[in-house]
Amino acid sequence: MSKPIVILGSARGDGNTRKLVERTFKNQEKDLIDLTMFRVNYYTYDYRHMDDDFLFLAEKMLNYEHIVFATPVYWYAMSAQLKTFFDRLTDLVSVKKEMGRMLKGKTMYLISCGSDGELPEGFEIPFQASATYLDMNFGGHLHGWMEQGKVAAEVQDKITSFVQPIQ
Ligand SMILES: Cc1cc2nc3c(=O)[nH]c(=O)nc-3n(C[C@H](O)[C@H](O)[C@H](O)COP(=O)(O)O)c2cc1C
Repeated sequence: MSKPIVILGSARGDGNTRKLVERTFKNQEKDLIDLTMFRVNYYTYDYRHMDDDFLFLAEKMLNYEHIVFATPVYWYAMSAQLKTFFDRLTDLVSVKKEMGRMLKGKTMYLISCGSDGELPEGFEIPFQASATYLDMNFGGHLHGWMEQGKVAAEVQDKITSFVQPIQ
């Protein structure tokens, strides 16, 4: 499927990160998983949470070639909601390896939303390094922020080049 899937990791489904995602894909179709709507438990070494929503979401995600992780900046890092989802990717390289292998060749993108244009050094590293580890490509990063409740004008200028490869 060339339509992208967005995994939204905000603490609220209708917040600023969602606004930035909607603005980014204003002119093209996308599907979206709002993690607040699902039960994704922490990773555990005994894989005791295999009956929560993670595998259902992972199976859905595997239908897409373009996978966009969207996160607010919380305490200089990705949100806990998204980090919990990332930790559970461990299930896909251990007990569900056949699913993990299906990530190979897909492209990961990152959308982040903070209070301003400043991002801590290394913010992208967990995404880029995870993409490499999972044999995925890293397709780009859009960082945005709001001004008077709207996506800042400076960010709007960057959206066109960010979405260009996501077709
Ligand atoms: C718990 C928390 C921590 C935050 N930490 C940062 C931060 O470290 N850097 C930053 O730029 N903004 C920070 N912010 C501001 C949010 O990133 C910003 O308001 C963002 O637009 C919120 O998106 P949301 O509505 O999807 O949650 C923080 C906000 C919260 C609630």
